Amino acid sequence: MPQARENKNNDSIRFILNDSEVTLTDVAPSATLLDYLRLERRLTGTKEGCAEGDCGACTVLVGRLSGQMLTYESINACIRFVGSLHGTHVVTVEHLAARDGTLHPVQQAMVDFHGSQCGFCTPGFVMSLYGLWLSNDNPSRADIEKALQGNLCRCTGYEPIVKAAEAAASARPSAIFDPIVAARDETIARLKAMKSEETITIRDGEHCLIVPADAAGLATALAQHQGATVVAGSTDVGLWVTKQMRPINPVIFINGIAELQQIARSEAGITIGAGVSYTAAFAALSSAYPALGRLIDRIGGEQVRNMGTIGGNIANGSPIGDSPPPLIVLGATVTLRSTEGTRTLPLEDFFIAYGKQDRKAGEFVESIFVPRLPAEDHFAAYKISKRRDEDISALLGAFRIALEDGKVRSARIAFGGMAGTPKRAASVEAALIGKPWTEETVRVAQGAFETDYQPLSDWRATSTYRMLAAKNLLLRFFLESEGEAAELVRYAAGER
Ligand SMILES: Cc1cc2nc3c(=O)[nH]c(=O)nc-3n(C[C@H](O)[C@H](O)[C@H](O)COP(=O)(O)OP(=O)(O)OC[C@H]3O[C@@H](n4cnc5c(N)ncnc54)[C@H](O)[C@@H]3O)c2cc1C
Ligand code: FES
Ligand code: FES
Repeated sequence: MPQARENKNNDSIRFILNDSEVTLTDVAPSATLLDYLRLERRLTGTKEGCAEGDCGACTVLVGRLSGQMLTYESINACIRFVGSLHGTHVVTVEHLAARDGTLHPVQQAMVDFHGSQCGFCTPGFVMSLYGLWLSNDNPSRADIEKALQGNLCRCTGYEPIVKAAEAAASARPSAIFDPIVAARDETIARLKAMKSEETITIRDGEHCLIVPADAAGLATALAQHQGATVVAGSTDVGLWVTKQMRPINPVIFINGIAELQQIARSEAGITIGAGVSYTAAFAALSSAYPALGRLIDRIGGEQVRNMGTIGGNIANGSPIGDSPPPLIVLGATVTLRSTEGTRTLPLEDFFIAYGKQDRKAGEFVESIFVPRLPAEDHFAAYKISKRRDEDISALLGAFRIALEDGKVRSARIAFGGMAGTPKRAASVEAALIGKPWTEETVRVAQGAFETDYQPLSDWRATSTYRMLAAKNLLLRFFLESEGEAAELVRYAAGER
């Protein structure tokens, strides 16, 4: 007689889907949430548009417990893996209307303000607006536009959708009409019961999916499976699967590890766990380094910022990742960990060559430390891309100088998109140090970019464009540091 299966909590992925609990003992490493919803659960309200995190048609909310705090964020189901959902609450568009069919205020506002034509994008818009509705009861127009950066509509135009968001914000019914608010306490209790103290391992033939409970478990798993794919926010790895059909077996999902999501502030600076999302990392960084605040809105869309991590941006070693250049300029260090212990190195030394980082087998990125910026230092980072929203950088320049008696005492300049790795502009720095901080000095130093970089031409920009833009960014930095030109320069760049 078959035995009732003991629920050990370490051989299954468990999460809440809308109001029902899901336990999966058989999950392929590359199974996406979107396929699971549409093909296995027939929850077809969530749509597939691009399958690469760009269009937002697949937007759902994922609720995560941190202590007693249950927070919901919009994410792209097309590039989120089922194995990464353990201990979360997944909310799809089907969950919003009341049982009697009464639409949620967000849905009703989309109807009232004619926010939909073909409707293919509509469920995704509704879910992004719902995420905003839950977290912000008085959103500004800028907040609304930011929340919708990751949703594309090719029929309706955005104005009716923005108007719907404004109207929904003022319609705040009592908790009983909102499915998430009404069930909050019960959801917290259910998620707590799901928490696993041990590493979850699911094997099926050659497939192996691992979800460590903590950083020590991750180190052990990586020591045992050195060729495994580590997956944090999956905003890069998701596309390997959906666009390149690359296998990611065995896979280790690390997005539930609480230790990797810590942000610690001290006199010396800020330590950010590798698993901290862009959204959380930049919120913390921009209070200490205000110039970084403007960069966050230029990274992906809201869903990508909620999923993607600083650790993933560094570990993937991309020459066009947006966080390495400013972090290098700020003097950041990266800490790597394995079962052998930890080691810390300057972030700029981590990037050895295109596609090659200083990460040994069995190591993972544990945290990034960003030293405090002295008040007298000038610091700025500028992203150049074809579109303002949700576009990858053609190049990104970060600048920092300290002056003494009108002369440049120290200079740190780094660029993405100008070489095979994020790279310092050593010759430009040398051309500035010790010289008066004047336009003449800057004009001479611009020539040194030719020594530091030989950028490529690709579909994002030509080599000539990149070189010219890099030189102009140095001039822009100079003008902004002079103060009075700053407003004009921001205006010219379309930021005001
Ligand atoms: C629509 C869209 C827009 C985007 N826009 C931008 C943009 O504007 N700017 C930008 O810089 N990037 C952008 N990206 C890329 C991506 O969001 C970032 O690179 C992100 O930071 C990756 O983090 P992740 O946690 O999602 O990494 P994952 O996809 O989970 O992993 C990326 C790589 O890092 C490794 N890895 C992850 N965490 C660790 C760790 N702790 N230790 C060791 N290895 C690890 C993985 O094995 C993998 O090789 C965009 C992506 C999408 C889909
Ligand atoms: S289908 Fe386009 S973002 Fe997921
Ligand atoms: S209503 Fe058609 S794409 Fe948005």
